[in-house]
Amino acid sequence: MRSTQIRKTFTDFFTSHGHQLVPSSPLVPDDPTLLLANAGMNQFKPYFLGETTPPFPRATSIQKCARTSDIDNVGRTNRHATFFEMMGNFSFGDYFKEDAIAFAWELLTQGYGLEKDKLWITVYEDDDEAEHIWRRIGVPASRIQRLGMEDNYWSMGVPGPCGPCSEVNYDRGPAFGKEGGPAIDGERYVEIWNLVFMQFQRGEGDKKGNFPILGELARKGVDTGLGLDRLAAILQDAQNVCTTDLLLPTMHTVQDLAGRAMPDEGEGCSREGLTCSDSAP
Ligand code: ALA
Repeated sequence: MRSTQIRKTFTDFFTSHGHQLVPSSPLVPDDPTLLLANAGMNQFKPYFLGETTPPFPRATSIQKCARTSDIDNVGRTNRHATFFEMMGNFSFGDYFKEDAIAFAWELLTQGYGLEKDKLWITVYEDDDEAEHIWRRIGVPASRIQRLGMEDNYWSMGVPGPCGPCSEVNYDRGPAFGKEGGPAIDGERYVEIWNLVFMQFQRGEGDKKGNFPILGELARKGVDTGLGLDRLAAILQDAQNVCTTDLLLPTMHTVQDLAGRAMPDEGEGCSREGLTCSDSAP
């Protein structure tokens, strides 16, 4: 599936479930606490915090993002880039865990046709409720893992809304690494979708990344992020996020200018018929 179709499938699904389609905010956000937009929820921060009344209870967007914390991984893993787009759905005091999980499962398995038994789930270590919902939906306990603050608790990295999260990971198979689930290997079990259950407000963190919880949000919400480049790599059978139709035209230009061949491009992304416009949002 080409990236244009991946985008459309996402936004069509959520608008058909009552979500307002909101354009990406600029990469340089209107938020003095952030240098660059690092998630789809950034532009909705005042809604989660209850500082502004949201004009709609549900939203969906495809947000341009850059994460300085990812830079050291670029070129070392097959799943990090200096720029990526995050497809998201958001609830501002409307639905919570039950619907967020059901939406993600339906879209991944029916909308994008991913095989159910290749999907692994992580939940926050004390989040029994999220695990029960995944079990009820049909995910066996053997493909659900519990992880701690570092992996399954999300905030913007600065004071603001935060909460436990549940991640959907795709098993790319033994050619990509060791078995044992996402707790063991992030190349084989690629995190594709993070569902954050926004419930608390955090304060300033220390140098080690620890931060205080200041209290509960007046209204619980949902913030999710599905990596467009990672999903494209899976659906296009590409080895690397750099060799999907989003980036391959650029990679070919770099290859021509450098006079050096790229390593394996993976299947499903031949040079033929691809132009840079294929990757434009
Ligand atoms: N805000 C969440 C993330 O970026 C969805 O992972």
